[in-house]
Amino acid sequence: MKNGLIYNTFGLKVEASTLFEYSSEEELKSLIAEGRIKVPYLHMGGGSNLLFINERYEGTVLHSQIKGMQVIAENDTEVFVRVGAGEVWDDFVDFCVRQGWYGAENLSLIPGEVGASAVQNIGAYGVEVKDLITMVETIGLDGQKRVFQLDECQYAYRDSIFKRPEMKQYFVTFVNFRLSKVPHFKLDYGTIRKELGDASPVTLTLVRQTIISIRQSKLPDPKVLGNAGSFFTNPIVSREKWQSLLEQYPKMPYYEIDEAHVKIPAGWMIEQTGWKGKALGPAAVHDKQALVLVNLGGATGADIVALSEAICHDVARQFGIEIHPEVNFIL
Ligand code: EPU
Repeated sequence: MKNGLIYNTFGLKVEASTLFEYSSEEELKSLIAEGRIKVPYLHMGGGSNLLFINERYEGTVLHSQIKGMQVIAENDTEVFVRVGAGEVWDDFVDFCVRQGWYGAENLSLIPGEVGASAVQNIGAYGVEVKDLITMVETIGLDGQKRVFQLDECQYAYRDSIFKRPEMKQYFVTFVNFRLSKVPHFKLDYGTIRKELGDASPVTLTLVRQTIISIRQSKLPDPKVLGNAGSFFTNPIVSREKWQSLLEQYPKMPYYEIDEAHVKIPAGWMIEQTGWKGKALGPAAVHDKQALVLVNLGGATGADIVALSEAICHDVARQFGIEIHPEVNFIL
């Protein structure tokens, strides 16, 4: 973020009226004490999950540059690490893999920063960041430190207490993680085992490389084609709804949630509607993963919203299911 321009992986040209970057809790507290954070404000991470609707953000944008990955405790089987919110998420995963710590490897190559990972509860390949978090440290707009233990964070699928409008006044400064020193892998999602083949032994480095190559084969590189990863969440529907759809679409993929609910991949539904690989103006549906919307070049936030609305409409008409954006819309 320089000269008022806000970096975002959609590649949208957006300017903020005021931008602050801070590199310590003390600096953030000073900004608060001096009354420099005016409403509306936006506390952002790496800009990888944001859709700016307008070309100007009339307000204060804050970005953490708090760095550091510090071991604060360890025993024979576990290590506890405190990480600055401004660290790049994948640098942290890389660090864990190099140290021989297990748990974060399936979350390799997810764009964004550590602070936002705890807000969004990022997830991939059968792991969510909540599985690793022990507590989240914040500074409130009142200048006070407040620490949220894992059970206070209300974690759910791509959701946490930090996404509630009334909680936007808490700025994440550090996230605390627990990693395992004892080998254990989660390899059951999708094609991980197939991609690993008969590699023996399975190592942390190999799993990280495998996840990276699966992601690179499906998800566009934001440096080449602007995007924000999955644009929609996968809807969770009742078992009755799922059964009636299964009669019509016997090959429909799904994930069991609990006795009453099933998750249906929105990417599959979007592909069924015929949108995969199609464009609406300068915005398009990625040709290798229909859950990802891309900026073909020069798109505005409004262009991407128009495409997303057309998709939601067609999915609702064909499947009777409402899908919702995973990306945060910023007015
Ligand atoms: N599918 C299709 N067509 C498509 C896309 C998907 O038929 O165009 C089918 C696949 O064949 C598969 C199922 O849908 O049977 C699920 O697809 P995939 O494994 O690619 O995952 P996803 O549900 O589309 C979710 C996450 C991703 C994460 C992957 C892997 C959400 C919103 N997205 O996508 O997260 O990487 O699983 O775990 O839950 C992100 O949040 O930005 C993100 C990329």
